[in-house]
Parts: sequence; C-alpha cells; structure tokens
Amino acid sequence: MSEPAPNAWEAAYLRFETPEEETRKFLRRLHRLGAELWPRNAQVVELFCGRGNGFNALQHLGFTNLEGVDLSPALIAKYSGPAKCLVADCRQLPFPDASRDIAIVQGGLHHLPELPGDLERVVGEVRRVVRPGGRFMVVEPWRTPFLRFVHWVGSFRLARRAWDKLDALETMTELERVTYEQWLRQPESVLRCLESNFATERKCIARGKLMWVGRRESD
Ligand SMILES: C[S@@+](CC[C@H](N)C(=O)[O-])C[C@H]1O[C@@H](n2cnc3c(N)ncnc32)[C@H](O)[C@@H]1O
Repeated sequence: MSEPAPNAWEAAYLRFETPEEETRKFLRRLHRLGAELWPRNAQVVELFCGRGNGFNALQHLGFTNLEGVDLSPALIAKYSGPAKCLVADCRQLPFPDASRDIAIVQGGLHHLPELPGDLERVVGEVRRVVRPGGRFMVVEPWRTPFLRFVHWVGSFRLARRAWDKLDALETMTELERVTYEQWLRQPESVLRCLESNFATERKCIARGKLMWVGRRESD
C-alpha cells in the first residue's frame, strides 16, 4: 500500500532537516537534560513523535522500551524501527494509569489549538500515565532574543531563497502561526502548568527553546 501523502506543513517539516540531523539534535537535548542517568529499561513514550527520529536518539543511548503517539499517519508511516507507534491524540492518551516511566515531547505542545485548556489536558494525561517517580521531558520553542533574530532574518525573502532550511522553518511557522504565536505569548502560564504537575528537575531556556524535565511525585 502507498504511504499517505504529507500535507503542506508536513512537507516543510520533512524539508527542514534530514532524519540524521534531527536525530543528532534530539541526542544533544537528551544529553543536556541528563538522560544518561535514566534507567535504560524505562518504558518511554514519545508524544507528538512525528516521523520517529526521537526513537533513534533514545535507542542510541540504549533505551529499548519505546512507544510513540502522533496524530499524523503520514509522518508515523515514515518510521520503520522497533518502537510501537500509535495514531492518537495526545490530549487523550491510549495508556492505562501509572503505566509508563518517562514521557517526552519535543516540539508538539505548541501545535495545540486551545491554550491553556489543551495544554492542561495533555499535561494531565501525562501525569495520569507516568508512574510516581517517573519523568516528563519537554522541549518547545521559547521567545528568546535568538528566536526573534531567526524570525527577523526569515522575514527577508532573499535570505529564505538562499537558505532552504530557513525557508522550511518560516513555511512551518506561517502554517502554524496561530498556535505558535499563542504558545509564545503565554510563557508564565505554560511553566505554571508544567511545574504545578511535576517537580522541576532540570530547566534551561536558551537559543529559542525551553528544555525542561519534571519528576512525577506521589499523590
Ligand atoms: C514539530 S512535529 C514534532 C515532531 C518531532 N517530535 C520534532 O521535534 O520534530 C509536531 C507533531 O505533532 C503532531 N500533532 C499535532 N497535534 C497533535 C495532537 N493533538 N496529538 C498528537 N500529535 C499531534 C503532528 O502530527 C506533528 O507530527
């Protein structure tokens, strides 16, 4: 059977970086957030997993028990490794209570249409599904001077024409403008939601990203 065709946003995302570049990016983030210290037999769920390069990075570090959730059959169809991928909405996770050790989101929460309601739904679902003592890792865009600079450069047509990666980024941003801007406008509310459900273990805001890990405490 032929693969489902990507929509315009998915086509720009596939153009933005190669699977190898994306895997290396995920590995850098995992290192930075202390993933080497996490038990390798942990049951890990990657939310908004897209084409699954997050799994390749996790496998590289020795994690073997991997699952993913994404709404897009077209992106999930691009993954061919051992992780179990489910087409589902992260606002309603298809897992039992306290059944997983680690949940990871890299660049998914800013796609949620309704803030803070949808964010509370996803974070509430992660809290339900992750065992006490487990972790929630989040990497999402954050309005820093670096991000402003990148979008400023991207506002020049010539720059976009000269650099395909920048053009792909700006195309994705244009197509997700409403949810992206909504997300960037609410940093306090986003952090409040994460930090009221999980105890912050690591937090770093740099180069246009929030990188955060929280621990699930007992009820
Ligand atoms: C930027 S991609 C993230 C892929 C990968 N984690 C990354 O960092 O590049 C965003 C993904 O979120 C998915 N998505 C958007 N809304 C979703 C939802 N409510 N539930 C599950 N996946 C969703 C899209 O299909 C897309 O694959």
